Amino acid sequence: MSDVLSHSDNGVLVLRLNRPAKKNALTKAMYTALTEGLTQASADEAVRVVVISAEGADFCAGNDIADFAQDLPLFQDDSVDHDDMPVFRFLKAITFFDKPLIAAVQGQAVGVGVTLLLHCDLVVAADDLRLSLPFLKLGLVPEAGSTLLLPERIGYQRAFAWMALGEIVGAEDARQLGLINSVVTREGLDEAVQAMAHKLLRLSPSSLRHTKAFMRDPEKLWQVIRAEGAIFRRQLVSAEAQAAFMAFLSK
Ligand code: COA
Repeated sequence: MSDVLSHSDNGVLVLRLNRPAKKNALTKAMYTALTEGLTQASADEAVRVVVISAEGADFCAGNDIADFAQDLPLFQDDSVDHDDMPVFRFLKAITFFDKPLIAAVQGQAVGVGVTLLLHCDLVVAADDLRLSLPFLKLGLVPEAGSTLLLPERIGYQRAFAWMALGEIVGAEDARQLGLINSVVTREGLDEAVQAMAHKLLRLSPSSLRHTKAFMRDPEKLWQVIRAEGAIFRRQLVSAEAQAAFMAFLSK
């Protein structure tokens, strides 16, 4: 079975991370499946709303660390077109996605499992949500445009503290910070998201598209993502990152 399930019903496409045994850590194949889902949704008039959700207890434990280790030579090779790598193709697709995007999140969300939420228009969380941004602890830099989006959303001071001090933020705190629209029980998560999606289905697709275009600046965001990505790739070979990955992989 695929590690990303795709299911379309009545104008709502659900892309569901389906690698619960690995806490839905994102592999290259999963980034590619998500990119394809978003690209097809963008082109298909019948799709009006996209939901990103996840199977199992946790939303996403970030990028797959074994993939990081395996792709190190590619990340370091300046002759490679990094924009064409699965992770950057996904980040470009989500940055330029022009239809409403809802996230349904539960349990642990780590790294890109948090920063991708900043690209969603609505986020519904289960009350057991724990968000963490371990980039600095790993010797890396925040990615996916989060150095722009997070301070914009929650203010510089709070964003810096979160990124640098690596605290875990719970669902209710995230809601109060403005990162999440609503907090529901774990059992009620899918239903709450469906209800939200159905409210969006009642609106004009072109009104939604124009509104989203006025409220976001994807071109600027994409430039930030590329700039962060260039440093991120360099930091992957830092002593801190290498030690952290080795420790994780050999545990
Ligand atoms: N990449 C690859 N595998 C991962 C993973 C990741 N990012 N996160 C979790 N997994 C795997 C674990 O290796 C483990 O696999 P195994 O059962 O085959 O040994 C399984 O998922 C369960 O994870 P585990 O660490 O046992 O769960 P936990 O509840 O003790 O801890 C986390 C959960 C999220 C705190 C922990 O898994 C973690 O720190 N993951 C790495 C997060 C990270 O640094 N992501 C990259 C950010 S840039």
